[in-house]
Amino acid sequence: MLELKNISFRYNRSKWLFKHVNLAIGQGEIVGMYGKSGSGKTTLAKIMANYLSPAEGEILIDGEKMNNEKYYPVQLIWQHPEKAINPNWKLSTIIDEAEGLNEEIFSLLGIQKEWLNRRPHELSGGELQRFCIARAFGPNTRYIVADEITSMFDALTQAQIWHAFIKLVKERNIGVLAISHHIPLLEKISDRLIDFNKLKSCPNITN
Ligand SMILES: Nc1ncnc2c1ncn2[C@@H]1O[C@H](COP(=O)(O)OP(=O)(O)OP(=O)(O)O)[C@@H](O)[C@H]1O
Ligand SMILES: [Mg+2]
Repeated sequence: MLELKNISFRYNRSKWLFKHVNLAIGQGEIVGMYGKSGSGKTTLAKIMANYLSPAEGEILIDGEKMNNEKYYPVQLIWQHPEKAINPNWKLSTIIDEAEGLNEEIFSLLGIQKEWLNRRPHELSGGELQRFCIARAFGPNTRYIVADEITSMFDALTQAQIWHAFIKLVKERNIGVLAISHHIPLLEKISDRLIDFNKLKSCPNITN
């Protein structure tokens, strides 16, 4: 179980973006989350994946506080893959960072071998995103936060990518927080849905 307990955050000294957010995701569970643009979903995703520290609250896995292990058990897949990847590295180097990726993952996600010799700018946004999705499935991943990960794909490819993604998370019993504005998509893939605006607007919020 991945638990967020009383997480509060604000950028610099500006007003609180959210206060006392509580959320739990079970192993193998897929939770869909939607909410107003600019409300703080990506910020919460970054906190969950340890890119940002919360001002208050803590994150627990199976009741224990996470320490700064080399490979964090919560992986974030970003909406814009080019922001998440070193532009100078060949894709083969990027993929080597996450050991244990196998042929099955590549073929499920439609990754072609010859792409491995290229650099990020030599792939389309959708092709690059397949790498970022594959990379999240390292051997130590227990939870994935998927933040608008298929918005650059056409409808058919989007369906294929989600089919592959769900197969991979179910096989590995990975818990997922899937963030999207596309509620019909979330309804299709999720075990339950959360409105972030309700989650963050609890009665004890104070600005
Ligand atoms: N580094 C930053 N410094 C200051 N403010 C920021 C920073 N990053 C984001 N913000 C602000 O925090 C708020 C929440 O942004 P965030 O990206 O978390 O929203 P979101 O819910 O993911 O929106 P969207 O649905 O459009 O993706 C926005 O008002 C944004 O401008
Ligand atoms: Mg966002």
